Amino acid sequence: MKSVFNHLTTRSVQIGVGHDDHTGGISFPIYPSATYRHPGVGQSTGYDYTRSGNPTREVLEEALAELEGGTHGLVFSSGMGALTTLLLHFSSGDHLLASEDLYGGTYRVLEQVFAKLGISTSYVDTTSTPAVAAAILPQTKALLVETPGNPLLGIADIRTLGDLCKAHGLLFIVDNTFLTPVLQRPLELGADIVVHSATKYLGGHSDLCAGVLVARDAEMGKRLYFLQNSTGAILPPQDCWLLIRSLKTLPLRMKRHSSSALLVAQWLQQQSQVEKVYYPGLSEHPGHDLSRQQADGFGGMLSFRVDSPQLAEQVLERLQLISFAESLGGVETLMTLPAVQTHGDIPAGERQRLGISNSLLRLSVGLEEPDDLIADLQQALN
Ligand SMILES: Cc1ncc(COP(=O)(O)O)c(C=O)c1O
Repeated sequence: MKSVFNHLTTRSVQIGVGHDDHTGGISFPIYPSATYRHPGVGQSTGYDYTRSGNPTREVLEEALAELEGGTHGLVFSSGMGALTTLLLHFSSGDHLLASEDLYGGTYRVLEQVFAKLGISTSYVDTTSTPAVAAAILPQTKALLVETPGNPLLGIADIRTLGDLCKAHGLLFIVDNTFLTPVLQRPLELGADIVVHSATKYLGGHSDLCAGVLVARDAEMGKRLYFLQNSTGAILPPQDCWLLIRSLKTLPLRMKRHSSSALLVAQWLQQQSQVEKVYYPGLSEHPGHDLSRQQADGFGGMLSFRVDSPQLAEQVLERLQLISFAESLGGVETLMTLPAVQTHGDIPAGERQRLGISNSLLRLSVGLEEPDDLIADLQQALN
């Protein structure tokens, strides 16, 4: 596409348009073929076998690389498939640093799968760059950060962490699931690799499980491609097509998720049964100013603490419009009890220390009318 049309919204809408020379189709087709006929010995159409390359997947991967500002995009069967493939880059004896405010499944794979393979991880408060610096060991190879954090929405300073990683030769990985490239582009701020659970905002409709890696550097991109092709966690072409379709509305969705989340967060703040609201868009949030500097919006995720675990349970039982369900980032609003669901694999003592108690609720604010969401929360709280 001509570089003059470089607004992210325009680029998202145009994904795949003009790529199907054969028919001129506006929607790029699904190529379900698992294998491809060779024109002759030693000759290839560019496609040999779908694990190694697929036209529908390629359109999606190129678009994701472009949106994140990287050289290589890769799509996987899930966010955990993407993370696992990435972690296979490391070797026994390597040490990693990761955010302590982290998705529980990432903690589980690090502690229960990769620790056994000799790859150890320390968890640090990545909202403090000095705390991260103090945790670096001679054998540390990478830093994995979720920002905003999960579920407490802490904000890490991507730029200063990028400088720190550069100075120590660490691979800097940012999980950008919560904000997406529409609101935050970590590669532009110094990250080496971006990870996504595309099951969330990128997919956006709670009907798809997918993961993404985007590398800034071509060498690392090739290495990740090698790992994916060797181990096989690819996204099927039908799902690639669905994800292309979803990406076309991503900028519009993120805008609305963000404006509605702010309204809901402000309303929650005024409720006597709510002790605390965690949302980077609130001026009281400790990461508010940093978030304004490094992101183009605050996203659709917020958490809030009610005054007792009994009230949290009552809210979940009484919800009528909002669904009590795992996951996030869909057009439908979902509420989660992180201590029991997404973060259940984090040891109880650690959860307590971090403040992930049974009275903390996480809300993924969807695209319904904010007044209706507030009405549902009101009846559930009272
Ligand atoms: C921030 C984050 N990263 C990664 C994952 C894992 O992605 P998936 O569930 O698509 O495997 C999740 C899942 O909830 C997540 O919230």
